[in-house]
Amino acid sequence: MPDGTGPTTPAAAAPPSPAPSSPITPSPSTPAPNATEMTKDGGVKLIAHNQYQATRLLRSDLPSDPLVLFRRWLADALNPPVGSGLVPVREPEAMTLSTATKAGIPSSRVVLLKEVDTHGFVFFTNYNSRKGAELAANPYASLGFHWRETSRQIRVVGRAERLTPQESAAYFATRPRGSQIGAWASTQSAAIAEDYLPHAVAEAEKRFEGHEVPCPPHWGGWRVVPL
Ligand SMILES: Cc1cc2nc3c(=O)[nH]c(=O)nc-3n(C[C@H](O)[C@H](O)[C@H](O)COP(=O)(O)O)c2cc1C
Repeated sequence: MPDGTGPTTPAAAAPPSPAPSSPITPSPSTPAPNATEMTKDGGVKLIAHNQYQATRLLRSDLPSDPLVLFRRWLADALNPPVGSGLVPVREPEAMTLSTATKAGIPSSRVVLLKEVDTHGFVFFTNYNSRKGAELAANPYASLGFHWRETSRQIRVVGRAERLTPQESAAYFATRPRGSQIGAWASTQSAAIAEDYLPHAVAEAEKRFEGHEVPCPPHWGGWRVVPL
């Protein structure tokens, strides 16, 4: 929610959008000097007081479709309006995915948005990972985008559903071979021995030598469908 103390926050499934022509005021990019302080017990205090200057987000300026706002803000992130003085957002597709166990214990991590349309927000992962296990047990998820350079953040709250194996395989086929091999070799969310990965990669390379690498059964996409 916009609270005047930070970047503008629309909820993707709720009221969105600034006026298409509204200028974006850059937020200060220089961190305050000496922005941290040690505490006596070995902790750290963060004492910067950034003044964020996002434009107002008025309900009357919002498009009725939150996806229209998302696309507009993404376009601004990739190509800030001429004359705005803003620089493009680095990796705007990076988003924080929060999941929770059946008991409601949350966990978050960064994943990459690969597609967004009227059906939802798609990312790819290892289904056996912690996030995969949590989504299987409790499909509700939240996505958070922070586009610092354009002083904006977006939250999506939805229900995650697995892509079909055919959809996952179609995307998997577009990945570089190294990433495809990595998907077979890597066991996400698990502690591994130091020399595990090089061995697993070599094994997968040998297994698929001279062949296309198929999509592993434990790998694929999730679509977060806004509530
Ligand atoms: C910038 C960035 C992008 C990432 N993108 C993905 C991704 O698209 N899919 C994925 O499974 N993990 C991605 N990761 C790794 C995850 O953050 C996480 O470490 C991993 O998926 C295991 O998460 P889990 O144990 O909570 O399931 C990315 C990490 C970073 C820093």
